[in-house]
Amino acid sequence: MSNTKYRVGIIGCGSIANAHARGYQGVDEVEMVAIADPVDVSLNDFGDRYDIEKRYHDAREMLDNENLDIVSVATWHKLHSPMTIAACARKPKAVLCEKPMATDLNECDEMLISARRNDVKVAIAHQRRFNSAWTDARNLIADGAIGQPTQIVCRGGQGLLNDCSHLFDMMRYVLSDPNAEWVIGNVERKTERYERETPIEDRSAGIIGFENGCIGMLLQEIAGPNYQGGIIYGSDGIIDLTEGRARLLNNKSTDWEERPSDGKDQQVAQASELVEWIEGKTEHRGDAENGRAAVEIIMAIYESARMHEVVQMPVRTLCSPLELMIDNDDLPVERPGRYDIRAFLLRGESMRPE
Ligand SMILES: NC(=O)c1ccc[n+]([C@@H]2O[C@H](COP(=O)([O-])OP(=O)(O)OC[C@H]3O[C@@H](n4cnc5c(N)ncnc54)[C@H](O)[C@@H]3O)[C@@H](O)[C@H]2O)c1
Repeated sequence: MSNTKYRVGIIGCGSIANAHARGYQGVDEVEMVAIADPVDVSLNDFGDRYDIEKRYHDAREMLDNENLDIVSVATWHKLHSPMTIAACARKPKAVLCEKPMATDLNECDEMLISARRNDVKVAIAHQRRFNSAWTDARNLIADGAIGQPTQIVCRGGQGLLNDCSHLFDMMRYVLSDPNAEWVIGNVERKTERYERETPIEDRSAGIIGFENGCIGMLLQEIAGPNYQGGIIYGSDGIIDLTEGRARLLNNKSTDWEERPSDGKDQQVAQASELVEWIEGKTEHRGDAENGRAAVEIIMAIYESARMHEVVQMPVRTLCSPLELMIDNDDLPVERPGRYDIRAFLLRGESMRPE
């Protein structure tokens, strides 16, 4: 591009917006020019911290006025789809929307339609795709370091849509993004548990059959420790993966090999690849199709619990089967009282973000 920088606007100025800001600050070709958040304290704290002058209570007003090239959507999950669609309608070059992409498959599909119709590149912020350890694991597996991958075991918490969406994305990423062919799972929800205003299960388990023959397994709030990573087993070796490091043990080694890190900031790498994507130099590894694939696995676990069957992909129920089960009283609450495990994030006097 010329000397002009890509104009970035951020919708939602809470905790993860700081990670987006860190990413943009690390890329020369972009400039954060405007922000939107209905809560004064969030808007002004963030605006002051990053010295952003243009501040809006209404995201659509920002989108109408600011001629943005890049829009970050950093609101809670239920607003990912409407805000991404609102952004796409104003035809920026790209949108970086937080994970989970959306709370059901219909919302994901509407986001994809909106991106296509308006010719906007949409990526989902599964930023650990830019993490050195996870990329190293992907490359090791592709190079045959553990032979044929047979099983990936993960332990997560906070509901499938939240932290666990990263884990399903990780399974696909390290395996070079195969499709899931079938899913079986179950959920327990005896309390009125929510996460960022989205209903979630108390506990769940899911098993995924990928097209390359590898099986993914995730336990959610069943057996800790919960962490971002997993154990990847192959016919000739094992990779032990966390967010911070990868360790390899295979038929050529006598002990664990601690793999080196490239030391790069995943947020900066994510933002940098967005610019390269806009400029046609590369694809973006967080392309919304990958974001949708993670949501589809989650919906398949819920659908398996609802239908008592092995779900053959693709999932054909487009609303959330978990919300359907709740609405139909298929998951009766035994300990009533709605609570949100992220209530501590609410800001402002009313403690309501809207
Ligand atoms: N990628 C990751 O690792 C990661 C980590 C944390 C959070 N997240 C995701 O980021 C999203 C936001 O989470 P958070 O922890 O930053 O929440 P948060 O509560 O800290 O921030 C959300 C912000 O959105 C604002 N908001 C609410 N309604 C709005 C509207 N109509 N327009 C503009 N802003 C509005 C709120 O006032 C708040 O400031 C969630 O979907 C979450 O899953 C991702």
